[in-house]
Amino acid sequence: MNDPATSGDVRAFLESVPLFDGAPPRALDVVASVVRRRRFEADTLLFQEGEVGDALYLLADGLVKLSKVDLGGHEKTLALLRPPDFFGEMALLGHSNRSAAAVTVVPTTCYLLFRDDFQRLLSAYPTVSLNLTSTLAERLRGMDDEAQVLSYQDAQGRVAYVLLRLYRDGVVELLEDRARARLTHQDLANLAGTSRETVTRALKALEAEGLIETRPREVDLLDVQGLEEVLHGVR
Ligand code: CMP
Repeated sequence: MNDPATSGDVRAFLESVPLFDGAPPRALDVVASVVRRRRFEADTLLFQEGEVGDALYLLADGLVKLSKVDLGGHEKTLALLRPPDFFGEMALLGHSNRSAAAVTVVPTTCYLLFRDDFQRLLSAYPTVSLNLTSTLAERLRGMDDEAQVLSYQDAQGRVAYVLLRLYRDGVVELLEDRARARLTHQDLANLAGTSRETVTRALKALEAEGLIETRPREVDLLDVQGLEEVLHGVR
């Protein structure tokens, strides 16, 4: 997506954000007048887990990784977000701190909506509150599915699940005969909640079945249906 910079472009970008689906034009005018555009280099820490949060981030361009560190010091990637996703709303609801860290993966542009403006928007426009609730419900459903997969599946099933999730979330490059995920084995391990060595073995097994092709920092999905079959244990 382009990197909207003019006020007209900001308005057009806001219209594409699911948080504002069905919201009255007045609501978008208000948001357009208060958001602040920020451009970040790749690998910028936007905020750390546990920090006090002051803004919601509307992702206009780029890719952002949300992650947590477990008690054993291992990083778990919660999600990779792309435009027009948003994040950072949880710390603005109630009195909690940032539930996860956010880091840019590539050069990224966000529009920041600050706490008071966000809260005023939710109070004034029920449509926006409902949209927010449905996004939170979707995330919860995703986490329920993931908890199930990660507790019952073997390594191949877990890795298949992670690859399919990247595919469905659009965090892949669609080529003529394949979908390319640009990730290291460690990135995949952080997504699958397992070790890099385990991921490497699982990728080799999936590659031997002709479902994927791997190169350093790249995994090509060749057979999405086949990966589904691995996930559902019918292969
Ligand atoms: P906040 O707690 O303010 O900062 C971290 C953000 O990560 C959080 O708000 C959510 O917007 C987002 N987040 C937390 N958990 C998940 C998840 N499981 N999936 C997607 N996004 C999440």
